[in-house]
Amino acid sequence: MASSAAKPRLENKVAIVTGGSQGIGKCIVRSFVQHGAKVVIFDVKDELGELVCQDLGVDLVSFVHCDVTLESDVENAINTTIARHGQLDIMVNNAGIIDEAKLSILDNDKMDFERVIGVNLTGVFLGTKHAARMMIPKCNGSIITIASVASITGGGASHAYTSSKHGVVGLAKNVAAELGKYQIRVNCISPYVIPTPLALKFFHMDENSSVYSNLKGKKIGPQDIANATIFLASDESEYISGHNLVIDGGYSVLNPAFGLFSWTP
Ligand SMILES: NC(=O)c1ccc[n+]([C@@H]2O[C@H](COP(=O)([O-])OP(=O)(O)OC[C@H]3O[C@@H](n4cnc5c(N)ncnc54)[C@H](O)[C@@H]3O)[C@@H](O)[C@H]2O)c1
Repeated sequence: MASSAAKPRLENKVAIVTGGSQGIGKCIVRSFVQHGAKVVIFDVKDELGELVCQDLGVDLVSFVHCDVTLESDVENAINTTIARHGQLDIMVNNAGIIDEAKLSILDNDKMDFERVIGVNLTGVFLGTKHAARMMIPKCNGSIITIASVASITGGGASHAYTSSKHGVVGLAKNVAAELGKYQIRVNCISPYVIPTPLALKFFHMDENSSVYSNLKGKKIGPQDIANATIFLASDESEYISGHNLVIDGGYSVLNPAFGLFSWTP
């Protein structure tokens, strides 16, 4: 007899994952497919995106070139998804960028700041808006934004990145308040540091660099984020909306400068 744990949790659902060509997004795409969803990747990295489709099966995953900062791209890509599948159940706003780490605000350029806000916040607004356009008439949908532990803490990333991630949490709360009447849920997931191309570049790390973990001996990976995304995308979380699910092993709840439990006489 099949165990209930083995039951696909996203059967008959159609999902979009922005930034699904690599990193965390790619892992979410793979996990969604394993749980029975059909997935459309929106990304600007066409070759990598097409490789993911070939790897997982072109009948299950498809790619649409979409720069999330351009409303016409997002609108067209969502229309293409509906033309292809006839429905949209899950929107994962995952595409994101980070700027260079500059240690003084005086060295931060307005252009760089706006570029990060453009992808990480305006891009999420556009993805949310056009997903909602399709979800409202059906009174169904789960919109999930991959934020960051930088959405609730300061000092871990650049000013632009931290601002953008605080911003998407505010956006998700506001849209959750609006769309509840259509039974559409809106949530964020906030990962700690994961060695993807984005983090490797920003923190000047390599795949084997060790990152402080509050959970002794445990290492966070993209699958931890994909697992949480499956949960928020599935009907198991049907009463969860307006939430920011932080996945950091407890990092953000402790202050290493005043750590009672790490104190040794
Ligand atoms: N890696 C981490 O440590 C970490 C931690 C917390 C949050 N996050 C967030 O997770 C998300 C995924 O990050 P990642 O680490 O996998 O990064 P990544 O750089 O590996 O992947 C990001 C993807 O987004 C795509 N993208 C960038 N700009 C785009 C645009 N304008 N339009 C469409 N697609 C675009 C890229 O092409 C790429 O495929 C981001 O929102 C990031 O801020 C990452």
